[in-house]
This record gives sequence, C-alpha cells and structure tokens, in this order.
Amino acid sequence: MKSIKDLKNLSGKKVILRVDFNVPIQNGKVIDDFRIKKVIPTILYLQQKGAKIIIISHLGEDGKESLLPVSLVVKKYIKAIEFIKTPIFSDETQSKIELLKKGEIIMLENLRTETGEKKNSPSFARALSRYGEIYVNDAFSVSHREHASIVGITKYLPGYAGLQFLLEIENLSKVFNPKHPFLFILGGAKFDTKIPLIKKFIRSADNIFIAGAIANDFFKTKGYETGVSLVDEGNFQIPLLLKSKNLILPIDVEVSKNSKKHFTKPTEVMSDENIVDIGPQSVLLLKDLINKAGFVLWNGPLGKYESGFGGSTEEILKIIAKNQTSNVIGGGDTVALISKLKIEKKLGFVSTGGGAMLDFLAKGSLPGLRALK
Ligand code: 3PG
Repeated sequence: MKSIKDLKNLSGKKVILRVDFNVPIQNGKVIDDFRIKKVIPTILYLQQKGAKIIIISHLGEDGKESLLPVSLVVKKYIKAIEFIKTPIFSDETQSKIELLKKGEIIMLENLRTETGEKKNSPSFARALSRYGEIYVNDAFSVSHREHASIVGITKYLPGYAGLQFLLEIENLSKVFNPKHPFLFILGGAKFDTKIPLIKKFIRSADNIFIAGAIANDFFKTKGYETGVSLVDEGNFQIPLLLKSKNLILPIDVEVSKNSKKHFTKPTEVMSDENIVDIGPQSVLLLKDLINKAGFVLWNGPLGKYESGFGGSTEEILKIIAKNQTSNVIGGGDTVALISKLKIEKKLGFVSTGGGAMLDFLAKGSLPGLRALK
C-alpha cells in the first residue's frame, strides 16, 4: 500500500483528502468527535508540506445532511479551514479550488448529496478527481464501501493512505498473529455481520466471549426463553458454533420489565422480560479471562448501551484500561463509551471502524485498501 509518507514533493500540489466525518449528530451538534480528532495529524502533515488540501467526506445514509456542523468542530482543531457550502460541482466550488494557496484547506459538502458516490459512478469519480492531483484516503472506517470517493477515484489519480489509515492496518493486523491466550469479546447486534468473525477466530482465539443481542441468538438456539429481547430469527450456523469449547456465553443477565430490572440466569428469563445487559457474575468471569489473556480483541457493546444499559461495557473498559493487556477495540457504540469515559489513552488501539473493522478482520482486506495498491 502506498502511503503519504512516500510522497516526496507535496508543495503546491492539490490533494483530495477523503476522511470519514460520519459522526453522531444530535440537535444539530456533533456529540462525539473521535473520528475527527483521528485525522487531524494527516491534515496537519499535508499542510506542513505545503499541499493545497480539499477535504471530502460523507455524512449519514442518504446525503440529506449538511457537513456544516461537522466543519465547525474541525475548526476547533484547525482554525483556517473553510467550508464550501455550494454544490460539489458548481462554478463557485471550482473557483475556490482554483484559488487555493499552499497550505490552505477547504472542505466540500456531503459527498452523498451526489448520487454517483454510492453507485461508484465512473463519471462522478472522474469529475471529482479533476479537483486534485493526488488522492489520499484517511477514511479507513468507510473503506469497506465500494464508493466513488473510496475506490473509483483511484482510477484517475495516484492514491495514498493517510496516517490514521496506516495505523488502522498496522494495529488491526496484529489480530492475525496474536499473543496467546487470545480473548475475543464480541457484542452488539446484527448477527449476520458478526458471524464471519466468529467463524474466522473460532480456531485462533483461545476464548470467544459472546454478549449483546447476538448472545440472545445463542440462548434462543439453546432453547432458552428470551422473552421480548432482540433476536435474529433462525441462524442455522449457531448449533455448530455451540459445539466449540472456546465459545463462552454470559452466565447471568440483566433483564428489564416495565422499567424494573433485575439479574437472573439466562435459563430463567420470563416471556415478558427483555435481556438488556450481562450480569455481575459474567463481568467477573470476563475479568478473569482478561487478566489471563495475552491479547484482547473487542467489538460491540455488551448490553443495550443505546437504551442506557452501558454498565457492564463501562466496567469492562475500565478493567482493560487498568490491566494493560495488549488490546484492540472498535465498533461505534463501544468507541462512544470510550470517549465518554475519557480512557482512550489507557487502552491499546481504538479503531475508528465499525463495519470496516469487522470486514477487515474477517477478510484481511477492504476495497479501499486494494484500491491503494
Ligand atoms: C460508518 O459509520 O461505519 C461509515 O461511515 C460507513 O457509513 P455507511 O454505513 O453509511 O456506509
């Protein structure tokens, strides 16, 4: 993979920098700027080398949101950035780009306002490429998408990886050759996106601890009552996985019913109860596994963090921060809790990737990575 560190002369060159500023926004305000902070070193690096920087990003699913609130947060870190509100392809945008001076930075509007982005349209990628001379991808977390600004554009411009992208690949690759005992903690929902990972690591991991909504799928397959909990119906791969000795399920869970909650055994959940988190016995069990581990990989929260059940996830994060075992952690919700607890510096590597992290770990590569080769 080509990296920006290989670029010899950036002075006066127009660099299109793809970042992932798809950050959570509530009431028009960015509520977590983790992904923004992570690409600031790349922006500064390009600026110091005298490049003319054109930042591009998507926000949200459908291109309906403006990147304006995000640009205000970027301004906290880099004062001189200018947000261009005019459409991506317009005379105004074009002339701003033409007038850029060395070290100046502009940021364009949400890429998904253009339909060609998600379709990886060659004409869109080509038109975008005309704005620059060099393309840099520092958007690891969207590099699992075959979109125009991730893949298509590299057909028309020489492409290089940014500093955060390099860190992601370097640190996530450690998972392929881990120190043992290797503990893999997998939480969250969306069973289908997680199953390739369980299958991939079922041999190399010494222990796989399953929590979150995906644990409910295992409980259900075992014939336990899961009440009104979130479950994916009928995944035929689970019975086979349940035979693996290194697969560990929570031994107690927190359930809620009419805003009352209590801890119980997974075998004793009632038909009107909702499993919302793992219980204290499971936290102790996991703590013990972490203390014995040589390497910990963790993706996805252990409970329904988005509904206020982030208790066990926070406890385990604090245990890992204290324990100092080498670790790699990722997934949007887990990262939001890390930001809230302000413990990132005490952890190993925290990935900006959610889906991209899962795909990279499962397949060993990503479309955006291949495009830079
Ligand atoms: C993410 O948040 O995982 C990335 O920005 C990708 O976003 P997407 O799922 O809307 O493509």
